[in-house]
Amino acid sequence: MNKIMMFGAREDEKEAALTWAKVNNVDITFSKEILKVETVEQLKGFDGVTTQQTGRLDDSIYERLSKLGMKQIAQRSAGYDMYNLEKAAEYNIIISNVPSYSPNSVAEYAVTAALQLIRKTHLINQKVEEKDFRWQKSIMAKEVKTLEVAIIGTGRIGQITAKIFKGFGAKVVGYDLYPNEHAEQYLEYKNSIEETVSNADIVSIHMPATKDNYHLFNEELFNQFKDDAVFINTARGSIVDTRALLKALEREKIAGAALDTYENESTYYPKDFRDKEISDSILTELVTRPDVILTPHIAFYTDVAVKNLVEGGLDAALSVIETGTCETRIN
Ligand code: NAI
Repeated sequence: MNKIMMFGAREDEKEAALTWAKVNNVDITFSKEILKVETVEQLKGFDGVTTQQTGRLDDSIYERLSKLGMKQIAQRSAGYDMYNLEKAAEYNIIISNVPSYSPNSVAEYAVTAALQLIRKTHLINQKVEEKDFRWQKSIMAKEVKTLEVAIIGTGRIGQITAKIFKGFGAKVVGYDLYPNEHAEQYLEYKNSIEETVSNADIVSIHMPATKDNYHLFNEELFNQFKDDAVFINTARGSIVDTRALLKALEREKIAGAALDTYENESTYYPKDFRDKEISDSILTELVTRPDVILTPHIAFYTDVAVKNLVEGGLDAALSVIETGTCETRIN
């Protein structure tokens, strides 16, 4: 019977994994730890591995995996920026991801976060907790059907987000390096990011992190936003210069932000810091600001998505064990 190690295994993943193991006749070992220099030797005697890394993997891991006879790492997420693909290929380690496990989960969350900011629910909740039940201008909302929404990155998630906002009756505009015809049912393409954001009330980003878009959303770009616009990032933290975002909020250049991803998140998400100090002053400011809704990379986190991620990771690991490759390999 093939043996697969499931690193980074959470309680909520086990039911789907055990069902999969029974159907596929595979022995799965669960570990809460992630794959790292200190844990790689635990793979001795295993045929495959799936993991859910958030931080960058040390380059020395690939050689050690190869010496252990491992042929792959199956990442249980869409993002794979934590791997050195060339280094892995050098040691014949196939890296795979789960490219699409539920675009709806992220799109629905992006819309939820935008609605929270637009309807000011976080401020209303705060006032209700203080027993302040007055109607005041600071909690008066706008109606989405009167707004313009900018979608930057119009792939799987961006398109569903656009479709939902269109359902509200909003005007939806978009930008993508590679515009696609299908998206034009839901949005009107603009020629540049600057043009796309300039008239928008909600700006929601849905592109991968690449070398070219590091800190793409910087002071200059935030200056192009309308003063009462809100910014939603369910994509990747590195796309946004968080200091510049905080500055834009501070000088009321934009009205609010919902950040499901943060550029230095890997130290903190998804961990319990209730009894620990947070030494990152930017993160502390994000947590406490009333105009920021901060969430710990949770947009994907639905029952459907978790099942698809578990099965996607295990399918990829088993496919490499049995056939030497898999459909979702990246390198
Ligand atoms: P996708 O590959 O279907 O679409 C991405 C789109 O972004 C493509 O159309 C691409 O041409 C475009 N793009 C790339 N670079 C761009 C740039 N510089 N400017 C404008 N457009 C650009 O990807 P999908 O499935 O829609 O996912 C989008 C992103 O969402 C992922 O790459 C990931 O970073 C993020 N994500 C976040 C999750 C969360 O829980 N917060 C979960 C899953 C994905």
